[in-house]
Amino acid sequence: MTETVQAQPPPATDTRERLIEVKRLRKTFTVGLFNRRIVEAVKGVSFDVRRGEIFGFLGPNGAGKTTSIKMLMGLIEPTGGEAFLFGRRVPSAESRKDIGFLPENPYVYPYLTPREFVEMCGNLSGMKGRTLRSRTMDVLTKVGIAYAADRQVRRLSKGMLQRTGLAAALVSDPQMLILDEPMSGLDPVGRKEVRDLIFEERDLGRTIFFSTHILSDVEAMCDRVTILRQGEVVVQGEIRQLLRGEVLRTDIFVSDVSDGATAALTEAGFAVVQRPGVWVVEVTGEQRVDEALRIAMDHKAHIVEVAPRKETLEDLFMRRAL
Ligand SMILES: Nc1ncnc2c1ncn2[C@@H]1O[C@H](COP(=O)(O)OP(=O)(O)OP(=O)(O)O)[C@@H](O)[C@H]1O
Ligand SMILES: [Mg+2]
Repeated sequence: MTETVQAQPPPATDTRERLIEVKRLRKTFTVGLFNRRIVEAVKGVSFDVRRGEIFGFLGPNGAGKTTSIKMLMGLIEPTGGEAFLFGRRVPSAESRKDIGFLPENPYVYPYLTPREFVEMCGNLSGMKGRTLRSRTMDVLTKVGIAYAADRQVRRLSKGMLQRTGLAAALVSDPQMLILDEPMSGLDPVGRKEVRDLIFEERDLGRTIFFSTHILSDVEAMCDRVTILRQGEVVVQGEIRQLLRGEVLRTDIFVSDVSDGATAALTEAGFAVVQRPGVWVVEVTGEQRVDEALRIAMDHKAHIVEVAPRKETLEDLFMRRAL
């Protein structure tokens, strides 16, 4: 069993409703016809998502994110454990009602247009007539695909298809969004637009649960995270609590570095690394920063920048999830 890094659980005073509850969820696949083999995709995963939060579900390829999400959505049956959406046990048609879902690879019938597809999804959720038509146009505009609303899906790029899938998740005005890799296939501008959209939707009162590999997005956006590795939870909790506040290392960027300066710094035990146009003196421990600066200045090096490095989600991910 992997040791789990767990931030303090939300305080007992956190009375926000649990919209997702996952308890010891497990999924085992049997693969191979003659050479049968068991794949333990999800091995007892538990977490909960509260109303109004943005929750990140992280993990490297094959960690079990999509499998967990499919069980949550009632698309595949768990081998063990249980899940609840809005307090109702999964699977239940009732529990799906208030959810906008973006699958990992959204399938959109190639001869439909985004407008037709999104209208069809809205219609399946019980929307009709003028309300459906105007809501469809609103969400297509929101995800930035209105200009291609009447182009057949088979003529859309991957990013445009992803945006169509997002519009379909939003059309029924759901209380919660469950998004499997919402930034996948998007260029940097597209990713920023989806990030902004997620914030906007949260501000409108929606709860957002999404999976991703893009750590910087999670760090900037999420209130809480669960990180999976090989089907198990390895890190779980509030981002602010999980990331250590202390300085891990200070990077001193210097130029005009003589051989004497690098020799003196190395002799004093500092790592000196050459990068394009600058040298970087890596100082572990805040108390030695003064000493490194003094040696560099005594040797007439020019100090360009002093950059304290705090732990990022990427450091945590590398430490715990790989
Ligand atoms: N239908 C299936 N049959 C057999 N094995 C499966 C099946 N679906 C998933 N798996 C296996 O379960 C494990 C978890 O896969 P899953 O798709 O949940 O990972 P993921 O975290 O979503 O990865 P990615 O980041 O690449 O999307 C993998 O080892 C995968 O090969
Ligand atoms: Mg996946």
